[in-house]
Amino acid sequence: MSDQKIFPGPSSPWWWQTTALIRNSYGLLDKCINKYGTPFSMKINPQTQFVFFDSPEAARDIFTANYKDVFAGPISKPLEPLLGSKSLLLIDHDEHLRMRRFMTPPFTGNVVRDYGEIIRDITVVNTGSWKKNSRVVIQDTMQTISLEVILHAIFGLKEGKRFEKYKQLLVSYLSIFNGKNALFLYIPKLRKKFFRPWAKYLGVVKEVNELIYEDIKSRRKNPQQHDIFSRLLAICDDDGNGISDLELRDQLLTLLLAGHETTAASLSWSLYWIHKTPQVLRNLCDELQPFKNDFNIDNIVKLPFLDAVCRETLRLYPIVPAIGRLLQQPLTIMGHTLPEKTAAILSIYLTHRNPDLYSDPQLFFPQRFIEKQYNSYEFVPFGGGARRCLGMHFALYEMKIVIAQIISNFQLQLANDKTVIAVRRGVTFFPSGKVPMIVK
Ligand code: HEM
Repeated sequence: MSDQKIFPGPSSPWWWQTTALIRNSYGLLDKCINKYGTPFSMKINPQTQFVFFDSPEAARDIFTANYKDVFAGPISKPLEPLLGSKSLLLIDHDEHLRMRRFMTPPFTGNVVRDYGEIIRDITVVNTGSWKKNSRVVIQDTMQTISLEVILHAIFGLKEGKRFEKYKQLLVSYLSIFNGKNALFLYIPKLRKKFFRPWAKYLGVVKEVNELIYEDIKSRRKNPQQHDIFSRLLAICDDDGNGISDLELRDQLLTLLLAGHETTAASLSWSLYWIHKTPQVLRNLCDELQPFKNDFNIDNIVKLPFLDAVCRETLRLYPIVPAIGRLLQQPLTIMGHTLPEKTAAILSIYLTHRNPDLYSDPQLFFPQRFIEKQYNSYEFVPFGGGARRCLGMHFALYEMKIVIAQIISNFQLQLANDKTVIAVRRGVTFFPSGKVPMIVK
């Protein structure tokens, strides 16, 4: 396609725009919308023009387009070293449809309920050492909780050597993709041994593969029950074909990573905002009061204010700031016809801060979700259409149980009043400073 910009946007070289986006995605998006309005165009790789939107109308046009005409895989291509080429996030068309059918059953609302007790137990264990006047680092605890929850859900692991091995390996695997190390995901020319993060990646990914393939081999011989791994192994399509070792390895890694960092980041933001906003804390404590001595999970997850707190967190800091589709055909979005091979991007971050939709968008104000029901094009933290996040129910369920358990049992206070900004960890955004708190 020509270099002509479809809409106004930054004119710096593509690699400069990419680096700026990696370093400070939210900041760059704010700058662009203030300077150019929406839609605006960016160049994040040499071949493609990325057009950013921030409205429910655009969300509808993108999410309801024929899935054969809008590919998500090429947009997620930078994640290939992290997740593998067969990851659900990287495949499209019929291949995606087949794999999505395989992977949906373990993530439906009913099945997710099976994990309630274990989420609560893991939270209790990981907050067991919180004593009066101690200083706790919320982000660290949330990362441990979400990692243990996902290891249990996928592999059925609760303790033991293998559990520890997975924990340790995943933590060092993920640390390779932090901060500016993440550059090699977006600039493939850096995938050379001289670039230290890449050399480290090659070493750790080898170990990760060995561990997962060993498990696949032994599970194929001795199928076990109940966890997501076993469910995936047991499924086959109408022709009797099951999932291959490579596909399985990539989906397991995708679920481990997508299911761990995202929830940990959302929980860290939630606890930060709850304690930053005294009225929210009071309302939440009041709502949870009747459950202090009877932690009834089925009732707790239905509490309206708790639900609103989770949604408001995901609105203000959506963790995944944007979703994108590479157009295989021209597509009309909000009356603009974009040519084939354009990347149509819905900025979740900008949509959630669109003042036409959310009044005082910078405020943490959960009540807005009680006063108004936002539809699935207005509130989009999990994307939408055929690609909507597979773990949406799981994530919301986990967030509610962990928050309720902590708020019901601890009085916490932010350890300092430093300004908190969003910082990149791999592909998600955590609060800077890791949210230290004092137990009262
Ligand atoms: C608060 C937590 C989470 C957030 C904010 C989040 C957000 C997202 C977003 C924005 C997408 C892209 C959707 C699109 O392109 O339209 C996505 C996809 C996905 N998510 Fe999540 N996610 C979360 C938790 C989880 C969990 C817990 C799991 C699994 C255990 C998970 C697994 C996936 C998978 C497999 C996809 C790819 C779906 C596909 O392409 O068909 N996510 N997520």
